[in-house]
Amino acid sequence: MLVGWVVEEHNEAKQNIGKEVVGIVFANGGMWKEQRSLSIAILKSFGMGKSSLAHKISEEVNVYLDTLAALDGKPEDVRSLTGTSVSNVICSIVIGKRFEYEDPLFKSFVDSFSRQIAAFDNAWPVVVWPWLRFIPGNFLGTKTMNNCVQIIRKEFGDKFIELALKEDGEDAAPTFITSYLKEMEKAQKEGKDTTLSMEQLRVNIQQLVVAGTDTTSNTIMWFMVYLLHYPHVQNKVYQEICSVTGPDREPDIQDKVKLPYTNAVIMETQRLASILPQSVPHYCKAETIIQGYTIPAGTTVLPSLDSVLMDEETWEEPLKFRPERFLHEGRVVKPDAFIPFSTGPRICMAEALANMELFLYTTSLVKRFELLPCTTGQLPSRHPEDGMVSSPLPFKLRFLERSTP
Ligand code: HEM
Repeated sequence: MLVGWVVEEHNEAKQNIGKEVVGIVFANGGMWKEQRSLSIAILKSFGMGKSSLAHKISEEVNVYLDTLAALDGKPEDVRSLTGTSVSNVICSIVIGKRFEYEDPLFKSFVDSFSRQIAAFDNAWPVVVWPWLRFIPGNFLGTKTMNNCVQIIRKEFGDKFIELALKEDGEDAAPTFITSYLKEMEKAQKEGKDTTLSMEQLRVNIQQLVVAGTDTTSNTIMWFMVYLLHYPHVQNKVYQEICSVTGPDREPDIQDKVKLPYTNAVIMETQRLASILPQSVPHYCKAETIIQGYTIPAGTTVLPSLDSVLMDEETWEEPLKFRPERFLHEGRVVKPDAFIPFSTGPRICMAEALANMELFLYTTSLVKRFELLPCTTGQLPSRHPEDGMVSSPLPFKLRFLERSTP
């Protein structure tokens, strides 16, 4: 497997990364371990990977589909709507609340989630050299990114932490916030040496809602792009879904194992979309040798997931959309090089949640609607917009409600 690396060695990284950097995504060592494992445990307690959470996701999907139905077949760009709906899933877990799609405050938060991740594309060196943010002006867009981070932490995170503290009591429904606060209190009472803190919680909230929105919603947008380009694939997915659910029932998570072709289409979408092509920068703690290259301790490494997902030695004609590459004798095969969620100990901690969302959104969409271009032959571009998260260029499409299979 070919792995691309962008490496940069500097001693300062040793001092900065993992010490000052709190949260999960950019943290290291014991702090990262404790934050990550508690966050995964909380997500699991809310049903990550289980049918109880799938049921809640389906409720959100149904509101989304009803909103698409109300478009009455008119052409629309649904990127922002899709982002808002997907964001509701992670918000329901983190703060215990979903928002109406037209809620202006929520729309502005979701916009900040997207702008923060977009700004990171240029501003990532600030993770390695935090002093960059003190350079006057908007060097590398660090101010833009920092503004979004502050909005999300102060106006979103702090507001809901405050609410959780006020409502604290036996009757309050548990959320990520209340579960974290309970664990923090417990660890402090027991006098444990812990990294759980209010500051960490603020950063974790921000990172979960940002990481959990654009990644998943843009994958769904790419799925739409490919279905428009390949109507025969769309039809085959539809027929497969109907053969399992029958004409009336909507798809549920138990159907996943019975829909190999549909799963292969989702996987091929993820491979080609390569949602986080440069993944996330990480710090090399100890000198490491990979394929004969020595990476010294203190090096910042940008793993190129793109180079693995598009590697010509692994994938025949890698730029072609060919879901069949994930099928063997009617069963789904997952090559080692299929790493849209990265790999190893830093692998996306919410892969199970994202997979559930991707399956439920895409299958419910195809079951209820035929996706059509605005006019015959007017197809969206397959080139992504520039940015840390690979998203399709803006496009409109039509959603035609199906009557019978
Ligand atoms: C299709 C959807 C998604 C894709 C393709 C994706 C992909 C990734 C990738 C490539 C990484 C970097 C791994 C590394 O550092 O090597 C990552 C990390 C992460 N993702 Fe996701 N992700 C998705 C959805 C989500 C969702 C829904 C959440 C929300 C809870 C989430 C939360 C995180 C977090 C917190 C990390 C940092 C993990 C760590 O450093 O330990 N992701 N994701």
